[in-house]
Amino acid sequence: MQEQLKQLEKEAVAKVEGAQSLKEVNDVRVAYLGKKGPITEVLRGMGKLSAEERPKMGALANEVRETIAAAIAEKNARLEEEEVKRKLKEQTIDVTLPGSPVKTGSKHPLTIVIEDIEDLFISMGYSVEEGPEVETDYYNFEALNLPKDHPARDMQDSFYITEDTLMRTQTSPVQTRTMEKHKGKGPVKIICPGKVYRRDNDDATHSHQFMQIEGLCVDHNISMSDLKGTLETVAKKMFGEEREIRLRPSFFPFTEPSVEVDVSCFKCGGKGCSVCKQTGWIEILGAGMVHPNVLEMAGFDSKQYQGFAFGMGVERIAMLKYGIDDIRHFYTNDVRFLSQFKQA
Ligand code: DAH
Repeated sequence: MQEQLKQLEKEAVAKVEGAQSLKEVNDVRVAYLGKKGPITEVLRGMGKLSAEERPKMGALANEVRETIAAAIAEKNARLEEEEVKRKLKEQTIDVTLPGSPVKTGSKHPLTIVIEDIEDLFISMGYSVEEGPEVETDYYNFEALNLPKDHPARDMQDSFYITEDTLMRTQTSPVQTRTMEKHKGKGPVKIICPGKVYRRDNDDATHSHQFMQIEGLCVDHNISMSDLKGTLETVAKKMFGEEREIRLRPSFFPFTEPSVEVDVSCFKCGGKGCSVCKQTGWIEILGAGMVHPNVLEMAGFDSKQYQGFAFGMGVERIAMLKYGIDDIRHFYTNDVRFLSQFKQA
């Protein structure tokens, strides 16, 4: 029996040594150490042994088991290490290989124009405000000195949600909303970009939904020259350093006096061409000195405070700047159009 056990040990250790893979090692383990293995079989015969020999044989059997188990553990460790080494060798990474390029989109032209103007005004100490697109009749019209039945409302027919709420026709209501937050204390210096809505027939230059940027500056001793200087800065930033501006008298209920602002033509420099319709000037926005009624309704003392305001159409600026001939290009999401505005 002793011989038999020693023989099994030899056999098993030799098989472990010869194994080529973890699986083969495991097969040896199951075959020799398993419940149905030969060692268990030998031990079953122990009943025939004398009482003296039995514990000796038991101890020997345990020794044989432990020797085989140790050989298995050692072999497994070696195989695993070899496997790791083999993988490291095979799977080298060449960090100098060129990467696959990441496809990037481009900013929408309207976003580019809005961000350019935001940057400019932030640099002049303004902050950027937002207001709701579904607006009340009060903020959209009444607080802007456009009482019910005022004829100037006709120019801005809109989409009504109820009798008193509508899709805002202009970003001007943000003027009042912001002034109310300041509770009669200046300065107030804001711009507000956003969507506006009008019941319009859509064509190459009109859309029922478009974007505006509103500007408002309220403080002590604000005069028309502040307005002019500010807008000249905008014109130069958007259309080039050589640009000049021209103010023409106009009418808006919320400003007095009111002006239309033209910029000298960036295409011909003012000589006259198709872009400026041979006039040398291009209209870019409406502006004026904030009407005292608007200041008072928003809680500002119009004897103490003055202000200027302006509103420009973002699409119009972008169409001029980039030579876009149809406003509908902005909304159709054609990548052939959009990818032309990739910035460096
Ligand atoms: N809200 C005007 C419009 O949509 C544009 C405008 C004109 C805004 C003069 C102003 C302003 O703030 O002072 O036609």
